[in-house]
Amino acid sequence: MEFVVMENEFSALIVATNVTLRDVLAALDRNGKGVVFLIDCDQVMRGLLTDSDVRRALLHGASICDPAEQYMNRNYIFGTLPKEKTENIALLDEKICSLPILDAAGHVVDILRLADLWRLPVMEPVLKGKEVEYVLDCLATNWISSQGKYVERFEESFGMYLGLEHALSVSNGTAALHLALAALGVGPGDEVIIPDLTFIAPASMTVLCGAKPVFVDVCRTTWTMDPCLVEACITTRTKAVIPVHLYGHPCDMDPIMEVARRYGLYVIEDCAEALGAEYKGRMVGSIGDIGVFSFFANKVITTGEGGMVTTGSAELYNKMRLLRDHGMTREKRYWHLVTGFNYRLTNLQAAIGLAQLEKINVFMQHREIVVKRYAEQLQDIQGIHLPPQEIWAKNIYWLYSILIDQEQSGLCRDTLMRHLAVHGIDTRPLFYPLHQQPPFSDQVDSHFPNADWLSASGLSLPTSNNIRLDDVDKVCSVIRSVMKNKSIFRNYDIRQDSIETKETVFC
Ligand SMILES: Cc1ncc(COP(=O)(O)O)c(C=O)c1O
Repeated sequence: MEFVVMENEFSALIVATNVTLRDVLAALDRNGKGVVFLIDCDQVMRGLLTDSDVRRALLHGASICDPAEQYMNRNYIFGTLPKEKTENIALLDEKICSLPILDAAGHVVDILRLADLWRLPVMEPVLKGKEVEYVLDCLATNWISSQGKYVERFEESFGMYLGLEHALSVSNGTAALHLALAALGVGPGDEVIIPDLTFIAPASMTVLCGAKPVFVDVCRTTWTMDPCLVEACITTRTKAVIPVHLYGHPCDMDPIMEVARRYGLYVIEDCAEALGAEYKGRMVGSIGDIGVFSFFANKVITTGEGGMVTTGSAELYNKMRLLRDHGMTREKRYWHLVTGFNYRLTNLQAAIGLAQLEKINVFMQHREIVVKRYAEQLQDIQGIHLPPQEIWAKNIYWLYSILIDQEQSGLCRDTLMRHLAVHGIDTRPLFYPLHQQPPFSDQVDSHFPNADWLSASGLSLPTSNNIRLDDVDKVCSVIRSVMKNKSIFRNYDIRQDSIETKETVFC
């Protein structure tokens, strides 16, 4: 019987059931999707054939003139309407790359393609260890709040990982900073020295304490606080310094500690982005008076939201513990020695944290391979600078971040980001310098040329703990092609979320 396939947007994927294997091969060749859907004269889907199905049939003696219907797969997977799109998406995987969506009558009304949904995030959590087992244990035993064995085990394991006696879990990295500053007695009239290039939390928590953040420029070689500039920022009001181990590279701690000790200043290491990084063989977070960590979902290990403070001092640990728990003494319930906060981590979060920490060496090993792969493919491209790596440092490359030197490359960072986004590749610009931001406009007189330059030039590439090497290759190949063909790319400005259609390549 003669019948026609109705023309629609999916036509390239659809053939009639009465065609031959030759027709199927021709359709597969045309659509390049590796699959065709077969429909009958009522436009109802009856089966599908993939490249491999046809290959297998021919290898087993089928003739190219045989009816396709004879070999089609009738037990295929399909999505239905009405259904939550997410339920249909869940049916897609590496084998099922094109999913027909059928209405109640069996007509193909949509096609979901894995390729259309493909998106490579900058950083996504990997929760494939004992996270579920431990969380279910919390639920089964009712220990879901901030008391329970996982809080203790997570804190103990974290301390051991850093080689420190005291680790105290908190609700997030920002709370960790606030707790550290409060425990050190930072308050109104005090000043705290902070690198100009960082996430805002160290500065905003200083302000929350009533103190003033004083910004210092960063080094181009480490992207972190320039130790040579710290002393010039010290006044009689300076109480503390917060070196931030930015993007996983440690600060040059010896000169920072030396000047801090000489002037009697406290040092809080902000290790939110650098768990596992080392300075001259010492773990970050174990060098200053207090270390603070974040376990937000984009960090090396995560608890969803969460954080940790670490210290070698029993006195500081006890102070932070008191302040974290409403200032309530552990000896007498509801008796508050000081006014404090509730910055506790829940047992549920700690359960996830413990499972994550158990995997940290696996994560680190994979990160080393990924970093090597990025470096191999990007190192020779003119105008691209790879992330910092000082001889004395173990960088954990929280987010593999590169600089686009506009003068050398003739291409601006935002143009590259825009093209990566078009290919489904997520990136982030480096942080904006703090002195440029509205809450700190009183410091506009100072100059921070390195922070300004790094911020305008840098972008972070996908660096998840389980990122596939072929995805790294894909990122690098898009970068190579944009850098090579930059003269044909227009100038996109991603920060304004608009596409400028200037004919010029340079910006
Ligand atoms: C350097 C730095 N400090 C502090 C924080 C705050 O951590 P959290 O998001 O857990 O509050 C972050 C967060 O990304 C950070 O990057």
